[in-house]
Amino acid sequence: MSESSVQTAVEGRPSAGGALAQEMEAAAERRDSTRNLKALSTLWPILRAHRAETFIACLLMVATSAATLGMSGAVRLLVEHLTSDRSGASVDPWFWLLGAVAVALGLFTALRYYWVTRLGERIVADLRKSVYGHILTLDPAFFIATRTGEVLSRLTTDIQIIENLLATSASIFLRNTLILIGALILMLLVSPKLTLLVLLIIPVVVVPLFLFARPLRNLTTATQDEFARAVGHAGETLDALETVQAFGREGAATQRFGAAVERSFRTSLRRMAARAVMTAAAIVLVFGGVVAVFWLGVHAGQRGELTWGALFQFAFLSVFAASAVGALGEMWGDVQKAAGAMERIAELLSARPGIARPAAPQALAGRGEVRFEEVVFAYPGREATPALDGFTLTVAPGERVALVGPSGAGKSTVFRLLLRFYDPISGVVRIDGVDLRQADPRDIRAQAALVAQDSPLFSGSAADNIAFGREGAGTDDVRAAARAAQAEAFIAGLPEGFETPLGERAKGLSGGQRQRLAIARALVRQAPILLLDEATSALDAENEKLVQEALDEAMRGRTTLVIAHRLATVLKADRIVVMDGGRVVETGSHAELIARGGLYARLAALQFTEGRD
Ligand SMILES: Nc1ncnc2c1ncn2[C@@H]1O[C@H](COP(=O)(O)OP(=O)(O)OP(=O)(O)O)[C@@H](O)[C@H]1O
Ligand SMILES: [Mg+2]
Repeated sequence: MSESSVQTAVEGRPSAGGALAQEMEAAAERRDSTRNLKALSTLWPILRAHRAETFIACLLMVATSAATLGMSGAVRLLVEHLTSDRSGASVDPWFWLLGAVAVALGLFTALRYYWVTRLGERIVADLRKSVYGHILTLDPAFFIATRTGEVLSRLTTDIQIIENLLATSASIFLRNTLILIGALILMLLVSPKLTLLVLLIIPVVVVPLFLFARPLRNLTTATQDEFARAVGHAGETLDALETVQAFGREGAATQRFGAAVERSFRTSLRRMAARAVMTAAAIVLVFGGVVAVFWLGVHAGQRGELTWGALFQFAFLSVFAASAVGALGEMWGDVQKAAGAMERIAELLSARPGIARPAAPQALAGRGEVRFEEVVFAYPGREATPALDGFTLTVAPGERVALVGPSGAGKSTVFRLLLRFYDPISGVVRIDGVDLRQADPRDIRAQAALVAQDSPLFSGSAADNIAFGREGAGTDDVRAAARAAQAEAFIAGLPEGFETPLGERAKGLSGGQRQRLAIARALVRQAPILLLDEATSALDAENEKLVQEALDEAMRGRTTLVIAHRLATVLKADRIVVMDGGRVVETGSHAELIARGGLYARLAALQFTEGRD
């Protein structure tokens, strides 16, 4: 049981922080454990990277275990001195020895605690960084298969579980294993016969306790569930207190809550009773075992088979061994839980992006020529309904092409393939004549600047958000981009200008301002290909004009693919490509397409937001 749950059990009523801790703990409770401890070996490479710290931690672990066991030796020497012929001589030196062993034990324990915890925290910090870094390299297909929530809980809850293991449990586990092994070896040396008897007694003591512990644990969760339900009812009632009072249902609500509390009380009682019985059984079994061993030992001593000192040492050692076994038993569940957590993290770490850098990537010329050749593509899990179905399009360097089509036609998908977030099922996507499958994804993305449909911004200042577009963008670049994107004026009007924090997802800006900021971010990238996914949301006349000017500036001298929802944008394109059902159905200029009276003419009549300039 962790500290926080003990705390809530004592206080009876969790605070908000306590409730959160309880929630996280409940989440940890629900994470599966595994019997396959091999997963923990994933930690080896990280341990090896911290060889020196690991060595020191192990050394200190051995030192504390040795000091603990050394206690028994000091006791033996003391008793042997008392029972020998020289018992008249001063016993003080032996007490000095005992004291020295105690001081050594305390010192080593403190050092061990520091080093082991430090190592654990170091490993967890490394693990966090490497898992997060790895997640960012995965492609969207991975996130379709694994929910973001699951990925997040692996990054938080599972790593937390491992942190618990490494910072505390692992040390307890290893130390007790060492003590158990050391104690057993010493016991064998002191008296092989008694040791064998102890080994026979241990299962008799331990097995019943283990068998008993499981139902007790189930009862504990049952109690927590009961209480959670009662609190849930109470919360519901309090939220709707006016309704409850208006209908005069206070009595019923009190009764309902009372009944839940009573049920929870009864489960608690059952748990307390079980716990009481278990404690009694534990005391009887453990002390019974100790007394039995002692009885055998004293008889052996009386027969002169071993000295009284040796008997004392043996008694000490068997207490050490017994408590080590107990600690190991308690620890076992934690270790399995951590192994389960490690399994899930290892799975995450071993996930390979489906879109990878080829062994010998071809360089892209940077001209900005785009070609789709008979591209067929379906999203993972949607194989039956391809999003692109024989899509063919060539865009010359510097050309402006408007993509138009009904919702779900596959327009945004064209961009995703061009950025190589996915590979086509058949057909080829080329930039500057190079098949994208032969190119490094980083290189491909360096060719393009994207203004996405919802253009997400990040918390941070306006300048940070623009500089995000290109690594190493300086203040001048940022200002120039902001000016070109018609964003300079409104940014200057913010309380701290370019350094104004925008808050989470830049909620402090209007839609049009966010769009212009996103355009500035794309401009700072200075890439030969510009991909614009226009937002459908209508802008007011002022903003519309400004965004339009920003776009004109952005498109200058670049190959531009723009998914157009505004007539003004469509009119500025060199060519309009009309998409439906994942393929091109019409191409031409605005006038030609209107004259044809096809899908475009219908869409134009219905859908375009009129340009107001
Ligand atoms: N992540 C995804 N997983 C599965 N299917 C998807 C995914 N994204 C899009 N689709 C499907 O692919 C098809 C094309 O989607 P796409 O986003 O390219 O449409 P769009 O033309 O951009 O539409 P809109 O104008 O509404 O943005 C749609 O049928 C859509 O349901
Ligand atoms: Mg779209």
